[in-house]
Amino acid sequence: MKEIRILDKDFDLFIEYDAILNSIKQLAVKLNEDLENKNPIFVAVLNGSFMFASDLMKYVTIPSEITFVRIASYKGTNSTNTIKEVLGLNEEIKNRTVVIIEDIVDSGNTLEMLLNRFKLYEPKEVKTATLLFKPDAIVKDVKPEYVAMEIPNDFIVGFGLDYDGYGRNLKDIYRIKE
Ligand code: IMP
Ligand code: MG
Repeated sequence: MKEIRILDKDFDLFIEYDAILNSIKQLAVKLNEDLENKNPIFVAVLNGSFMFASDLMKYVTIPSEITFVRIASYKGTNSTNTIKEVLGLNEEIKNRTVVIIEDIVDSGNTLEMLLNRFKLYEPKEVKTATLLFKPDAIVKDVKPEYVAMEIPNDFIVGFGLDYDGYGRNLKDIYRIKE
């Protein structure tokens, strides 16, 4: 499919699964080299990273663990303030090498929050692996160490990423039409 419609928006095919998988395999090679003797724990952030994490971990061959967390957002006492919380981290990460697995780093707000939260558990180090990175959108002083693909600052769906809950199941990545 070259074009799709999700809810009220039209999208064009942008990155096909073959290309996505290739970039994921290359990322896995780097992770295998860099983290070989570190016994890392990968922490995938649901829902967006489920497809990426699944494909990435098939090519991560070093001893490692994987677990999954979710981010809950709710309104703080101040109505403009959204409080975000990490749910589901039950593993001990003290003194461990942690690799956060994200679908996309856009403004960097989520990544900054995650890094601050994880620091409280005193890990040895925290790295970030993301499927997609929008370098032109970042507003925070964070940078993912492992990036499968850099993309322009356009809205995309597919391969785990959603538009209002829909489109996560698409095997390829689609970009919004202007
Ligand atoms: P942040 O702006 O870096 O905090 O990204 C927050 C979240 O926004 C990501 O984890 C995604 O769930 C979502 N997001 C950012 N850009 C896109 C996009 O282009 N398509 C779908 N979701 C996106
Ligand atoms: Mg997300």
